[in-house]
Amino acid sequence: MELIQRARRLRETDAIRRMTRETRLSSDSLILPFFIKEGKDIKTPISSMDGHFHYSPDRINEAVEEAMEHGVEKFLLFGIPEEKDPVGTQAFHEEGVVQQGIRAIKEKFPEAFVIADTCMCEYTSHGHCGILCGQGVDNDATIEYIAKTALAQVEAGADMVAPSDMMDGRVGAIRRLLDEKGHKHTSIMSYAAKYSSSFYGPFREAAGSAPSFGNRKQYQMDYHNRREALKECHQDIKEGADILIIKPALSYLDIIREVKDTTNVPIAAYNVSGEFAMVKAAAKAGLIDEYGVMCESAVSMFRAGSDILITYFAKELADAIKRGDIG
Ligand code: PBG
Repeated sequence: MELIQRARRLRETDAIRRMTRETRLSSDSLILPFFIKEGKDIKTPISSMDGHFHYSPDRINEAVEEAMEHGVEKFLLFGIPEEKDPVGTQAFHEEGVVQQGIRAIKEKFPEAFVIADTCMCEYTSHGHCGILCGQGVDNDATIEYIAKTALAQVEAGADMVAPSDMMDGRVGAIRRLLDEKGHKHTSIMSYAAKYSSSFYGPFREAAGSAPSFGNRKQYQMDYHNRREALKECHQDIKEGADILIIKPALSYLDIIREVKDTTNVPIAAYNVSGEFAMVKAAAKAGLIDEYGVMCESAVSMFRAGSDILITYFAKELADAIKRGDIG
């Protein structure tokens, strides 16, 4: 048969397939989340998140060291405080658990890139991401607390802050306060398009951050909306966001692509806890090949336009890249 174009030519050998790959991955782009629990000598498995642990600040460096051995050196920190109250005091206290964790990591591994998740939900007694006003969250009161929290994290040594609360105006409030206090060069990676999602379940169990009443629909986005994500992203850039997070990732690849095409800042996909847990559970049930699905879905997030990936599979993906199975 006469065929001028034969797509299969570029699939003939491993060498030619690798040469013509359109998507390249590097472990430089991977961020691994950690859950730091207040207390001493803690390393306990997180039941909802296979292979992940709660660490106390005095043991977090065990996790850092292990990740570094895999070539992962960027971390996103979440905290589980001993005490919670209505305004989430431990989020912005100098001795708050995340601040302790940041100092511990930076002391032993100054080269580690430490990102602090900036939110109130792990620290408030009611589990909402801000200060309550009746049954709702008071936007303008909350952003003051979010900015204070970001400042405490940066003063403890965080390289970057990542506000995940979805209040309006919080990126601007953080930027202003950081600048005023002399942290002009500390960057903000905002959870710009964060959807109200059922995929956060395992995380909320791990972080003890499920809301005690209601849900987060008044501040997180409605998953029917695409153009609204652009509105959120453009607004955050105007307020000073350096990097935008799209979250979750797999059900939102269209959003990643669209934001990539219409902005000029780096995009991070957050492959969230429920997405991770589904792969683990399906593999455990013998239904899928965990390694193959992990690789394929991570590549899909980069192919959709992500520059950065926040993932509970960071170490395993770094190994896959090193082995040449992806990237
Ligand atoms: C805090 C926060 C959440 C996640 C990241 N930051 C939970 C939530 O919004 O309820 C979810 C991460 C994951 O599921 O992996 N606001």
